[in-house]
Amino acid sequence: MPTLNDIRSTFLNYFEKQDHEVVPSSPLVPRNDPTLMFVNSGMVQFKNLFTGVEHRDYQRAATAQKCVRAGGKHNDLDNVGYTARHHTFFEMLGNFSFGDYFKSEAIPYAWELLTKEFDIPKDRLLVTVYHTDDEAAEIWKKVAGLPDDRIIRIATNDNFWMMGPTGPCGPCTEIFFDHGDKYWGGPPGTPEEDGDRFVEIWNLVFMQYQQFEDGTRTELSAQSIDTGMGIERVAALLQGTNDNYATDLMRSLIEASADVSSTYPDGPGKTHHRVIADHLRSTSFLIADGVMPSNDGRGYVLRRIMRRAMRHAHLLGAQDPMMYKLVPALVRQMGAAYPELGRAQPLIEETLRLEETRFKQTLDRGLKLLDDELGGLPEDAPLPGAAAFKLYDTYGFPLDLTQDALREKGRNVDTAGFDTAMADQKAKARAAWSGSGEAADAAIWFDLAETHGATDFLGYDTETAEGQILALIKDGAEVNSLSTGESGWVVLNQTPFYGEAGGQVGDTGWLRRLANEDDQAEVTDTHRMGGGKVFAHHVTIQGGTFGKNDAVQLEVDHRRRTSIRANHSATHLLHEALRRALGDHVVQRGSLNAPDRLRFDFSHGKALTLEELNQVEAEVNDYIRQNATVDTRIMTPDDARNIGAQALFGEKYGDEVRVVSMGKRSGSGKGGTGDTYSLELCGGTHVARTGDIGVFVTMGDSASSAGVRRIEALTGAEAFAYLSQQDHRLAETALELKAQAADVPARVRALLDERKALSNEVAQLRRELAMSGGAGQTGGAESREINGVKFMAQVLSGVSGKDLPPLIDAHKSQLGSGAVLLIADTGGKAAVAAGVTPDLTATLSAVDLVKAAVAELGGKGGGGRPDMAQGGGASAENAQSAIKAAEAVLGG
Ligand code: ALA
Repeated sequence: MPTLNDIRSTFLNYFEKQDHEVVPSSPLVPRNDPTLMFVNSGMVQFKNLFTGVEHRDYQRAATAQKCVRAGGKHNDLDNVGYTARHHTFFEMLGNFSFGDYFKSEAIPYAWELLTKEFDIPKDRLLVTVYHTDDEAAEIWKKVAGLPDDRIIRIATNDNFWMMGPTGPCGPCTEIFFDHGDKYWGGPPGTPEEDGDRFVEIWNLVFMQYQQFEDGTRTELSAQSIDTGMGIERVAALLQGTNDNYATDLMRSLIEASADVSSTYPDGPGKTHHRVIADHLRSTSFLIADGVMPSNDGRGYVLRRIMRRAMRHAHLLGAQDPMMYKLVPALVRQMGAAYPELGRAQPLIEETLRLEETRFKQTLDRGLKLLDDELGGLPEDAPLPGAAAFKLYDTYGFPLDLTQDALREKGRNVDTAGFDTAMADQKAKARAAWSGSGEAADAAIWFDLAETHGATDFLGYDTETAEGQILALIKDGAEVNSLSTGESGWVVLNQTPFYGEAGGQVGDTGWLRRLANEDDQAEVTDTHRMGGGKVFAHHVTIQGGTFGKNDAVQLEVDHRRRTSIRANHSATHLLHEALRRALGDHVVQRGSLNAPDRLRFDFSHGKALTLEELNQVEAEVNDYIRQNATVDTRIMTPDDARNIGAQALFGEKYGDEVRVVSMGKRSGSGKGGTGDTYSLELCGGTHVARTGDIGVFVTMGDSASSAGVRRIEALTGAEAFAYLSQQDHRLAETALELKAQAADVPARVRALLDERKALSNEVAQLRRELAMSGGAGQTGGAESREINGVKFMAQVLSGVSGKDLPPLIDAHKSQLGSGAVLLIADTGGKAAVAAGVTPDLTATLSAVDLVKAAVAELGGKGGGGRPDMAQGGGASAENAQSAIKAAEAVLGG
C-alpha cells in the first residue's frame, strides 16, 4: 500500500519524466496578491504565467502545493472534523502547461498516471466535462475508452474553474472515483451527487480566458493547463478507504493526539482528534510561512484555527497545553517534503504552547458562560449576539469557535446581533476617549486599535517571541518604514514587552528583523496607547530598515525585567507586611516598580518608628525566604473580592481580573485569606517564587502627601549592592577608628563626647590666653590714660566674636574704671566689642566706641548698651586706625 509520501513522489516523478520542471511549493501567503488570503490551489504561484505577464525558462511544471482553505472565498473550517474530506490544510498535486500542451495531452497524462502508475481499475473511474466541450469528451472517449454514460456533461460552474473573481479561468474536466455501492451517493449531476460514493479526485482546467473585475472575459493569447489533485483523496482510495482521516499520514497525527491526551483514537473523542490533526497541519504550516496569531487578517484566521483545535483538545480532557507536543509527529511525517517545517519547529512549538497556555486561562470560564446563557434560553433559540460578543471580547472565543461549540448542541448564533454588539463597542470606545488630550489617546492610536485590535501580550509567559509589524509611527503619523538612526513607535501583532501600567515601568530590549538579523532596533520604552489596547514600542533603529509587515524577533532586556519583577512582587509583600504591622487602614496610594528600586505610597497618618520599619522589613524577608510559588488566576472582580483580594480603590476593572497570590501565611496575624499571605488584583509581571526576590531592604520612610507615607526600597542585586556598600563604609570607619565594626557606634559616641569636652576646654583656654596677653595678641595690652579715662585696646586672633564679651568683662574689672576696645581677627572678618565701667557710662558710651571702630573696619552700625557694645567689620586689616578712631571718641 503506497504511503502518502510515496504517492507524492510517484506523481512528481511521472511528470518529471514527461519533461515537467518539478517546482517547490510556494509559501502559503501569496506574494504580491492582495486579493487572496492564502494560497488555495497549485496554480496561484503561476498566475502570471497563464496571463502571459511573466515568462520562465520552463513551459511545463509539476508541483505538490501546500494549500489552506479557511477564511475568504473557499472556507472549509466549519466542517472540518465532522466529515471525511474537509480540511483547512491539504496538498494539491498538479501539472501545468504554460502555452505548451493542451487538452489532447493533458487527458492522456492523467489517464496514464491513474491507471498505470497508480493502478486504479478503469471501471472505477468516470469523468465530467463542461456541457459545450465536445473536444474534451471526444478525447476521453478515444484515450480512455469510456462509454458515454461515464463522460458526464455538466452545465454549471462546477465545470468552469475560476481562481477568484478575476484572473485566468476556463472549462474543466473532473475525474471521479467510484468507491462502490457500500456507500450511498450518485454520479455527478444527479441529485445524490453529494453522497460519499463518487468522489472527485482530479480537476483538469483548460485555461483559455481571463476574467476582469467588470465581469468581462477575454481569450488568453495562449492555451494552458492547470490541474489539481487532492493528495489526501487519492491516498484514501489507494489505501482502500473512503475517509481521508484514515490515510497513513492523518492517522499518525490522530494517534499522536490520542497518545498525548491518553484517549482512544476512535473513542468518543474521534471528532476532536480529527479536528486537532487537521488544524495542527494548517497552523504549523502557516507559522512556518511567517503568519503569527493576531486579531486581524491572516493572523486572525490562524488564531481561529488554533483556538478551535484547542477547544477540542480541552474537550478531550487535556489539562495542559497539548498541541505543541504533536509538532514532532507532524515534522516526522512531512518534514522531508517540506523542510521549512523542520526549520520552524521551535517557533511552531513555542507559538502553539503560548497560545494554548493563554487561551486555557479563559476557555473554562467562557464555556461556563456559554452553558449559563443557553440554560436561560428556550430550547432551540439562537445564542443572543451580545453573549457571543462577550465570549469573543472577554474570553477570546472567535465567532466560529462559539458556533462550533453550539453545533454539537444543534444550535446557532444570532450573528446579526453579534455584529451590532461589535459596532456598539467600537462606537463606545471612540466616544470615551474624546478630548482627554493625552498623547496616548491621540486619534491615531484609536485608529490602530480599531484596525488591528488589541496587541496580544505574551510577557507573562515569555521574554522572547516573534511578531509582525503592523504599524510604524513617527512624529504622530504612520510611516511605511524606519531606518538607521530614526526613532519612532512600532506596533506589533503580539509582544512580550510589558507596556507601562499599574506602577510597573515599560520594558526595554531589542527588535531584530528575521529576514536579516543584523537589522536591529533598540526598544527604549513600551507604552499602552489607544485606551490601553495598543502596545507601542518606542524604538531607535541601530541598523537597517524596519517596514510594515516585517517579521521580527522581539527580546526583552532580561536582566532589567528580572529586577522589575522582583521589585513588583516585593511591593505586594511590603503592602501586606504594612497592613499587618500598622493596621487595615493601610491601602495602596501609588507605586513605582522600576528596575533599580521600588516605591510604595500608602495611607498612614504618621512616620513609622524605626521598630515598625524593622519589623516590616524583617517580615518581607521572611516571606522571601519561604520561597513559596507565586500563583496567578483569572476570575471575575466579584470572585476576586470574595476571596479577599486587595483591589485598588477608584480603579475600574473589566469582566476579568488577574489575581496574584504569594506566600503561605504563618502565625495568626491579620491579612490574606485562608492561608495565603498576599492576594492582590494585579496585571503586572511577577517572580515565579518569592525566593527570586533575593533580599529586600528599605531605605526609610518619608511623607509623600497629607496622610500618605512613602517607603522606598531595594531588592535583589540592588539591595545586595546597597548593603555591601554600607558594609564597606562601616569597615572603613572601623579601620579609621582602629576598632571592631561592632564597637563603632560606642566608639563614635565616645568620640563625640570627647570632642565636646575638648572644644569647651579650648574655648576656656583661649579666653585665659587672651587675658594673659599671650599668643595671638598683636596690640598692646597696656592701658593708658586719655582725657583722664583709662583706655585699653587690643587686637586678638584665634578667638571668635562670642568670646569677646567675657573678655571685656574681665578687662573692665582689671581696670576698675575705664574703657576697653577689643578687635578680633576672625579669619577674614573682624569682630569688635567695647566696654565702659559703670562709673563712666554717664559720659561715655561703649556704643560710640564700637561705632567709631566699626566704621574704620569696613562695617556698619554696631550696638548694645553704654557699658557693653558689639559690632562687626569686613576685615581686621585696619585695626590700628579703628583703635585710633576710638581714642578720638575719648578726645585723644
Ligand atoms: N486550480 C484547479 C483547482 O483548484 C485545478 O481545482
